Amino acid sequence: MSKGEFDLVVRGGTVVTASDTFEGEIGVRDGRIEAVGRNLGRGTEEVDATGRLVLPGGIDSHCHLEELGEDGGVQEESFASGSAAALAGGTTSFICFLPQWKGHTLAQSAPGYEERARRSRADYSFHQIITDPTPEVIEKEIPALVARGVRSLKVFLTYDPLRLTDGEFLKVLATARRLGALVTVHCENFEAIGWRIQALLAAGLTDPLQHAWSRPPVVEREATHRAIALAELVDQPIQIFHVSCAEAAAEIARARARGVKVWGETCPQYLTLSHDDLVQPDFEGAKAVCSPALREKGEAERVWRHIQDGTLDIVTSDHCGFSFHSAKKNPGSSSYGQGGAVARPDGMPAFNAIPNGVPGIETRLPVLFSEGVSKGRISLNDFVRLTAANPARLFGLAGKGSIVPGADADLVVWDPDAERSVQNAALHHAIDYTPWEGLKVKGWPTVTVRRGEVTARDGEVLAQPGSGRFLPRGPYSFIAPTGRVPDGFDASRYA
Ligand code: URP
Ligand code: ZN
Ligand code: ZN
Repeated sequence: MSKGEFDLVVRGGTVVTASDTFEGEIGVRDGRIEAVGRNLGRGTEEVDATGRLVLPGGIDSHCHLEELGEDGGVQEESFASGSAAALAGGTTSFICFLPQWKGHTLAQSAPGYEERARRSRADYSFHQIITDPTPEVIEKEIPALVARGVRSLKVFLTYDPLRLTDGEFLKVLATARRLGALVTVHCENFEAIGWRIQALLAAGLTDPLQHAWSRPPVVEREATHRAIALAELVDQPIQIFHVSCAEAAAEIARARARGVKVWGETCPQYLTLSHDDLVQPDFEGAKAVCSPALREKGEAERVWRHIQDGTLDIVTSDHCGFSFHSAKKNPGSSSYGQGGAVARPDGMPAFNAIPNGVPGIETRLPVLFSEGVSKGRISLNDFVRLTAANPARLFGLAGKGSIVPGADADLVVWDPDAERSVQNAALHHAIDYTPWEGLKVKGWPTVTVRRGEVTARDGEVLAQPGSGRFLPRGPYSFIAPTGRVPDGFDASRYA
C-alpha cells in the first residue's frame, strides 16, 4: 500500500459528537485526529463509512475484569476477552477496578493486577476500591496512587467484606477532596438488606426474585441520600454508580438543584430489564441477579426520564460477568453477594448466595442505541454524550470522547439501520450468557478504530492483547469542590 497524506481516512459518513452532526471526513496521523473536513487527501488506509454514522469510540467508565479475590480466585472475564468484547461493541476505553482486600494495604491487595491489565486490547484506567481506609492507606497510599494517575476512588455502602461505615466514608471523601480525586459510590443500605434477607430466608423465600425483594428501591434511595449528604458535608464531588430507580435519581436531581456536585450513572439493565427477568424457569432468573436489583416493570421508563432530564448523564455496562453454569449456579466466594445462605431442596443457591453482576461490555452501546436512539427516547448527540463525552469529562480522560483535531483517533463506524438479534454465541466475552439473548436491536457497530488502528470489523476483533494503553489521569478542574462548607469550616483540612 503506497503511503497517503494520512495514515487513515474515514470517509463518507455522518460525524456525530456530543454537540454536532455533520457530513465529514476524518484524517488520522500517529494515532491522533489530524483533520476533520471535506475533500481530505488520501489515507494509507481508508475506511468507507458511506451511509453510516461515525461516533467517538465508547468509554465504559464502570466494568469489572479479571478481579482477584483474597482466596486466590479470579473472575473468569480476562482483560484479553473483556477488551475484545469492548472493541467488538464499539468501546475503545474503559475504567475497571483496583481492589483493596479488607485488612490489607493497597500494595498487598491483588498483586500483579496491573500486570494483568497490560493484556488489554482497549485503552484502560482504574478506579481504586477502598474497603479499609487505615492511616497508611489515607496518608501514603492514596496520595501515591493519585500521583500516578488513578484519580477516582470507589466505595461500597453494602457487601459484607467491602462496605464502609459512614465514618470511614467521610475519611475517604476528605482524602479525595485534599487530593483532587473523584469518589464513586455504590449506594445501598447494608443493615436494611441484611435484615430483609434474614426475614426472607426465615419465610422460606429463596428464589432469584427475592434478591430484588431483599433490596427494594427505598434501600437504594436511603443510601443515595446519605452518600450525597455526607459528600455535601465534606464538599467533595461524587458520582452515584448504577442508579436503578427513579427514587434514587430524584435524590440526585434535588441535590444538583441546590448546587451539589453529584453525578448519576445508570446501565442498560436498569433501562430494559425488570423483575420478569428474575422469574424464569430452570433457575435462569439467577442470570439477572445484580445490585442494585432489577425493578418492577415500568420503573425502567421512569429511569429513562431521568436520562432525558439530564440527571443521569453516563450509561456504563457495570460488566461483572459470572457464567450461569459455573458461577451463578455454583457460587464460590465472590465478594459481590451477601452470604449466610441456606440450602435449597433443588441444590441451587438461595438468592443471597448468587454472585451479583451481569455481563454487558459488548452489548452496552447496541442496546442503548436501539432502545434509546432508534426508539426515539434520546438523540444521536445524547447517545454520544452518555457513552463517550461525559465519561471522558467526568473522569478526566484527556483526548478521549470527542472528534476534534488533536484528540485520540478513537472512532466507531455505526450502522444505524442494521437489525440484529443479540446472541451470546456471537459475543466475545468469556461469559456463557447474555441477559439480552434474543433481543431485537436496530443499530450495530461495524468498524472500531482505537488510536488510529482498526481493531474490530464486522464482529471480528483484530487488535492483539497488550495493544491497549494505560490512561493516567492528571488534575482537572471539572471535579473541583464548590468551596461551600458548613459554617465556612473546612474539616477535611484537619480530618
Ligand atoms: O451486581 C453488580 N453490580 N455487581 C458488580 C459489583 C458492583 O456492585 O458494582
Ligand atoms: Zn456497585
Ligand atoms: Zn460495578
